[in-house]
Amino acid sequence: MTSMADPAAMFTERNRSYVRFVRSVLYPQGLRSYFLRSPRLRTGLRVLDAGCGTGILTLALHEACLRRGVPPVALDAFDLTPAMLDRFRETLAARVINGIATTQADVLHLEALPPSWTGYDLIVSASMMEYLPRPSLPDALAGLKARLNPGGSLVLFITRRNWLMNLMIGRWWESNLYDAGEIEGAFQRAGFSRVVFGSFPGFFRYLALWGYIVEAEA
Ligand SMILES: C[S@@+](CC[C@H](N)C(=O)[O-])C[C@H]1O[C@@H](n2cnc3c(N)ncnc32)[C@H](O)[C@@H]1O
Repeated sequence: MTSMADPAAMFTERNRSYVRFVRSVLYPQGLRSYFLRSPRLRTGLRVLDAGCGTGILTLALHEACLRRGVPPVALDAFDLTPAMLDRFRETLAARVINGIATTQADVLHLEALPPSWTGYDLIVSASMMEYLPRPSLPDALAGLKARLNPGGSLVLFITRRNWLMNLMIGRWWESNLYDAGEIEGAFQRAGFSRVVFGSFPGFFRYLALWGYIVEAEA
C-alpha cells in the first residue's frame, strides 16, 4: 500500500474507489445540504476550493448557489493530484458546466497559484488537510487566510478522531484524524479571529460521525 507520505500517489491509484466510497455514504449530498442552508452564500462571492480532488465539494457548492439563485462571480479550485483534477475536468465537460477554474497546486506552496487567485470571500476545503504532516496544519490555514478578503470566511470539513474513523478513514484512506481541541488550536495559531463548529442538517446529521465542519472568520 502507498504510504501517507505520498497522497498524490494514493489518489492517482485509488481515485475511482474514492469516488465510489464517498458516494456510498451520500457525502456529496451532505455537503450540498449544508450549503443549501448556509448563511455564507450570497450573490457575487469569490470562492476557492482548496484540495478540490474530483470536485465533489466545488460541485455541491455550485449546485447550492444555483438552486438558491446566488451565483458566485468566481469559483476556483486547486488540488495536488493531476489525476483527481482530470476527473474533475471530465465531469465539468460532461455536465457542460462553465466558469469553474481549476489548477494544480500544493496548499503548502500557494505561490504557485495564478496571481489573480486571491481576495476570496469564502474558501472551502474538505477532507484534504488530513493529508498534510500534522505540524503543517496551522501553516496551511494561515496561507489560505492570507487569500481571504477582510471579513471573509473559511469553511473546513475535516475528519474527526474516533475509533470508527480510525478504521474507515485513518487506516483505509491513510489519513490523519483530529479532535476539536487540536483543530481550534490550529485555527488560533493561523490567526483566525472566530472559530465555531457547524453541523450537517436534518437527514445528513449522521455525517457528524465522520467529520467536523469548522466555520472560521478571517
Ligand atoms: C480525500 S480527497 C478530498 C477531495 C475533495 N475535497 C472531496 O471532498 O472529495 C483528498 C484530496 O486532497 C488532495 N491533497 C492532498 N494533499 C494536498 C496538498 N498538500 N495540497 C493540495 N491538495 C492536496 C489530494 O490530492 C486529494 O485530491
